[in-house]
Formats: sequence, structure tokens, C-alpha cells
Amino acid sequence: MEKIALASDQGGFEQKEALKPVIEALGYEVVDFGVPSTDSVDYPDVIYPAAKAVANGEFKRGIILCGTGIGASIVANKVRGIRAALVTSPEVATLTREHNDSNILAMAGRTTPFETNKDIVEAWLGTPFNEDDRHSRRINKIKDIETMEGR
Ligand code: RB5
Repeated sequence: MEKIALASDQGGFEQKEALKPVIEALGYEVVDFGVPSTDSVDYPDVIYPAAKAVANGEFKRGIILCGTGIGASIVANKVRGIRAALVTSPEVATLTREHNDSNILAMAGRTTPFETNKDIVEAWLGTPFNEDDRHSRRINKIKDIETMEGR
């Protein structure tokens, strides 16, 4: 069973908790990297370990949340090998899997309704990468940039 790394700060805590059974019902095992409550934390502290676990190959994919999804996605995208997509609609969830082979889904726990995030998770987890040459070429260019930037 594929394992999904799941993490949020306090801004995404409630939706993280509510999304766990949704992800499990789709046939995945969830590993929760925190946070365990709505107590205030700094989002880099909780998102970085989850992103690193995906980059290390311990997980193929991860799902992260903060209030807007922006801080979480910025942190995750600092990690070499991570392609985190901040998604606010199911249509974009499908497109980012097909075009970017995003390996982390970032969502907004405060500004996107739960029902929408549920649909986003389902679309994102259920969509394979479209291995068309042009998409692979573009992803390889992202990897080249990581190398040039020393990441
Ligand atoms: C925390 O208050 C908030 O800044 C955080 O959840 C996130 O939205 C940052 O981008």
C-alpha cells in the first residue's frame, strides 16, 4: 500500500485531521508528520521533515497544508527533488500531476473549503504523470536548475 506523508501547521490542522480518513479510504496509508494540535508552530519546522522524507524516497508523495498553502509550498520547494504544487481546484490538481509530476500537494486549510480540498486530494492522488516527451523535458530542466543552484 502506498504511504502518504501528511503534514500541516496549525492553519491546516483541522483539515489535515479530516483528510486522513479520506486518504485512507482511497487506499493509502497515512503517516502523520504533525502538527498534533492547533498550538502555534512555525510552518518550516513541520513541513521540512515531511518534504525531506519524500525527497529521500521514503515516500513517493506527500500532502501538506498551512493556512493559505503558500508558506508550506515555499518550504517544500526548497528541498531538492520536490515539486510541490499549491492547488485550489480539482482541475488544477489533475493538471499538475499530468504536467509537473508534482510529488507534493500543498493546500490551504483556511481559505479553501474542506469539500474542495477533498476533491483536490482525490483528483491528485488518482492522476498519473503524462509521460509525454515535452513534460519530461520540462521536468528535466527543473532538475538542471536545481543543479545550477547547488541544491
Ligand atoms: C500561520 O498563521 C500562517 O501564516 C500559515 O498557516 C500559512 O498560511 C503561511 O503561509
